[in-house]
Amino acid sequence: KTILLAEYAPPAYQVSTIDLEFRLDPHATRVTATSRFDRMAGAAADAPLVLDGAGLRLVSIMIDGAPVGPDRYDQQEERLVIRGVPAGFVLTVITEIDPAGNTALEGLYQSNGIFCTQCEAEGFRKITYFPDRPDVMARYRTTIIGDPVVLPVMLSNGNPVADETGPDGLRRIVWEDPFPKPSYLFALVAGDLALHEDSFTTISGRSVALRLYVEPRNADKCAHAMASLKKALAWDETAYGREYDLDIYMIVAVDDFNMGAMENKGLNVFNSKYILARPDTATDADYAGIEAVVAHEYFHNWTGNRITCRDWFQLSLKEGLTVFREQQFVADHQSAAVSRIHDVRVLRAAQFPEDAGPTAHPVRPDSYIEISNFYTSTVYNKGAEVIRMLHTLIGEDAYRRGMDLYFQRHDGQAVTCEDFIRAHADANDLDLGDFFRWYVQAGTPEVSVDTRHDPDAGTFDVTFTQTLAPTPGQPVKQPMVVPVRAALIGPDGAPLPMMLANEPADAPQAGALERVLVLSDRVTRFTFMQLPERPVPSLLRGFSAPVKLDTRAEDADLAFLMGHDDDPFNRWEAAQTYAIRVIHRLIADIGAGRPLVLPLEFREAFTRTITDDALDPALVAEALTLPGESYLAETMSRIDVEGITTARQFVRREIGRSLEPQLIALFDRLEAAEAGQPYAFETAAVGRRSLANLCLAYLGAAGGAAGLERAERRFATATNMTDALGGLLVLADQPGELSQPAFDAFYDRWKDEPLVVDKWFMVQATASRPDALDHVLTLMEHPAFSMRNPNRVRSLIGAFAASNPQGFHAADGRGYEFLADQIVALDAMNPQIAARLVGPFKRWRRYDDRRQGMMRAALERIMSRKSLSRDVYEMVTKSLA
Ligand code: ARG
Ligand code: ZN
Repeated sequence: KTILLAEYAPPAYQVSTIDLEFRLDPHATRVTATSRFDRMAGAAADAPLVLDGAGLRLVSIMIDGAPVGPDRYDQQEERLVIRGVPAGFVLTVITEIDPAGNTALEGLYQSNGIFCTQCEAEGFRKITYFPDRPDVMARYRTTIIGDPVVLPVMLSNGNPVADETGPDGLRRIVWEDPFPKPSYLFALVAGDLALHEDSFTTISGRSVALRLYVEPRNADKCAHAMASLKKALAWDETAYGREYDLDIYMIVAVDDFNMGAMENKGLNVFNSKYILARPDTATDADYAGIEAVVAHEYFHNWTGNRITCRDWFQLSLKEGLTVFREQQFVADHQSAAVSRIHDVRVLRAAQFPEDAGPTAHPVRPDSYIEISNFYTSTVYNKGAEVIRMLHTLIGEDAYRRGMDLYFQRHDGQAVTCEDFIRAHADANDLDLGDFFRWYVQAGTPEVSVDTRHDPDAGTFDVTFTQTLAPTPGQPVKQPMVVPVRAALIGPDGAPLPMMLANEPADAPQAGALERVLVLSDRVTRFTFMQLPERPVPSLLRGFSAPVKLDTRAEDADLAFLMGHDDDPFNRWEAAQTYAIRVIHRLIADIGAGRPLVLPLEFREAFTRTITDDALDPALVAEALTLPGESYLAETMSRIDVEGITTARQFVRREIGRSLEPQLIALFDRLEAAEAGQPYAFETAAVGRRSLANLCLAYLGAAGGAAGLERAERRFATATNMTDALGGLLVLADQPGELSQPAFDAFYDRWKDEPLVVDKWFMVQATASRPDALDHVLTLMEHPAFSMRNPNRVRSLIGAFAASNPQGFHAADGRGYEFLADQIVALDAMNPQIAARLVGPFKRWRRYDDRRQGMMRAALERIMSRKSLSRDVYEMVTKSLA
C-alpha cells in the first residue's frame, strides 16, 4: 500500500500523557500503557480511535478503567480500531512482546543481552498500541521493572523520579521526561553496562551530567566520544544559540543496530561503531565518524526533538538540517576543506546515483510504501545541500535570523518543510517560493557553461544553461534556483574584481573577488567588465550547489586551477575532473584496442602536487586520490565494468611505478615525522597519515619491492589502526603468500574486538582477487560471521556488492545470484537491512545487455518469493519498474 503526502490528515485524538510500565523478560515482556486521549476540535463525535500496532500479543484494553470487549474493537494487521470512545478518556492497553526473538532490531530488542529500543520511524507500534505518528506528542513517564542482578542499569528518557527494590527482589525505576515528544523518540535501555561519566556547564550556568554507557569490556574506548559530545554542546550554544534542556544526557552503545545512531530524547542509542575508539582499534576515519555522529545526534535535540516533523514525508526537515549542522561543526573542528571534499564525495558516490536511478525521489518525497526505505542519501545529504544553498543565497546573518525565528515560532511543534522555509522568508522579508522547488523536484540538475572573452571590449561572458532530466513520476521540471559561488582568476593566479555590466559601482557584490551568481532560469548569462585578459573562471566554489557542472574547461585550464585556484575545494575539483577525463580516454583506448599511455601532462601535474612541500598533506592526499569506481560509473551513460577497473588500475600502477622514488621519499619523510609520537586525532597528524597511506597505496599498486616492504613493516609495527590498516590494504591486493599471513595475524590479534573484526571482513570483501566471490562465500562460513549483526552483514555482503565491482559484476553472473540469495535470507530476519542490500542492483539498466539480463533475473527471482517484507518489495518493484 502506498502512503501519499496528499492524503495527510491530522489525528482525530491527541495524547497529552502516557504512562508506560515494562516488566522486562527476554521472551515475554509485559507492557502496560496508560494514556490520556482527547478528541481534537474539528473531529467527528463518532470518529473511531485508530491505534498502530504490529507483532503484539494483546492482553487487555480498558477505557477509564472499564474493560473494552472485542465487540468494540477491530484488530487488523497493523491496527487497532476502537469505536464509540468518549471525547476525553484514559486508555490502558496491556501487550506482551518478545525482545529476544526480535531480529528486525526495531521496537524493543536485545543486543548481547542488553535490552534496547529503536523506534524511529515506526518501531513504537511494536511495543504497544498507540498513534505511532510524529504529530502526536505526549509527555512520557516510564516504569521499568527488572532483576537488578541481571540488569543493573535501567534507563529511559528524562530524569529518574523513583527507584526502589521490592521484597520480590525486583527493582522498579521510574523515569519522567518533561518535554512532550512523538513516540519515535521514546527509548528504553536495560542491561549490564559500564558508565563513563563527565559533566558540562551550559552557557547559562546549568550543570548537565553526561553519561556514556558501554559494555564493561569497552570501558577503555569512551574518551573520544565523550570529548566529542562536550564539543557539540558548546558549539550549538555559540553557532545557533541552542542550549541543552535536561539535567542528564545519556548515550548507550550497542553492537546490533540497523543504522548509525538514534537521537531519542535525553537517551541516544548508538551503533557501537560510532562510539568506541582507542588508537589501536579505530582509524582516523572512525574517530572522525564518531565526532560527527555524536554531534549529529546531539544537534537533533533542537532540530528534530524540540521541533519535529509533522509526518514522515518531512523527514529532511530534521535530517537535512541536522546533517548540515553536523557538516558546519565538523568544518569548524577538522580541516574545513577536507571535510567539504568528503561531503561531496559522499554525495556523488551515493546521492547522484540515487537521483539518476529508479528510486529517485525529491528531498521531500510525496509517496512511500515503507518509510524505512526513505532514510536515503537524498533526504540526508542532498537535504543538507539544500540548507547549505539557502545559507549561501541569503548569507550567514539572514540564515541565523531565519533559524532564530524557526526555533521561536515552532518550539514544541511538529511541522513541515514549508514552515521551515517560511521562517527564513519571514525573518528576512524574502520570497523563497522558487527555491522550494529543491524540496519537490527529484534529479540532479546539469549545468553547462559557455564563456566568451572579448579582449577589445574587456568583457567576459559566462552563460549557464541548466537542464533537469525527467525522473520517475516527474516528466516535466521547472528550472531550479542554483547559487554558483564564482571567482575569475587572473594569469598570475590572483582573483580579479568581478564587475557586472550595467551594475552600479555600489551594488552589494560589485567588484568583489568572489560572488554568488544566482541561476534561476534555464539560461542565465553574466557579462563581466574591465577584463582585458581572459581570466580562468573558478565556478561552483566549495560545491555551492548539488549539480553536475560541465565547465568545458581545457585541460590546460584544469591544470592551472589545480595549481592556482585559491579555493581549496576547486583545486581538488580540478584534479578530479582532470583525472576523470584521463580515465575516460583510457577506457576509450581499451575499447579500441589501443595501447595505454598515461599522459605526460597529467603525470607532471601529479608530480608538482606531490613534491610541493608548501601544500597541506591532507589536501595533497585528497587531490591525488582518484575518483572511486562508483562515481566513475556514474559519469558513464553505459557502465563499462572492465574498462573502469582496468583504466583506474592502470593509472594507479603507472603513477606508482613512474613516481616510485618521489613516493618513497615522501612516505619515509611522513613516517619519520610520526615516529615516536603518541597517536592524536589532530588535523595535521591525520593529514600526514592519510598522505603516507596514499603513497603506500600507489607503491602497492605498482607492486615494487620497496613499496611492499614498507607496507609489511607498517602493518607489523604500527601502533595505531590507521597505519596498520594502510599496510593491510596494500597487502590485501597482493598474492596469497603475502596477503594471507597478514589476514591471519590480524584476526588472531583482534578476534575479540568486533569492530576490528568488521574491518577484517571488509578488507577481504573488497580486495581485488580473481576468486573474490568464493572467498566471500568461505568467509560467510567463518565462525565470526553472523547474519544477525548488521555491521557484519555490511562489512562482508554489503562491502562486496557495493565496493568490489570485479567480484560483484563478474561476467558469469554469480555475484548477482549471491546477492539475491542473501537478500532473501535476510528478509526473513531483518527487512531494513535486506532492503539496503538491494541498492547495488538499482543501476542494472546502465550495464551491458548480458549483465542487465542477469541482474533483472536476480531481481525477478526475489520478487517471485511469497511473503516479502514491504521494505524489500518496494525496493525491488521500483528497481524493476
Ligand atoms: N534519526 C536517526 C539519525 O539520523 C536515524 C534513525 C533511523 N532509523 C531507522 N531505522 N530508519 O540520526
Ligand atoms: Zn539524523
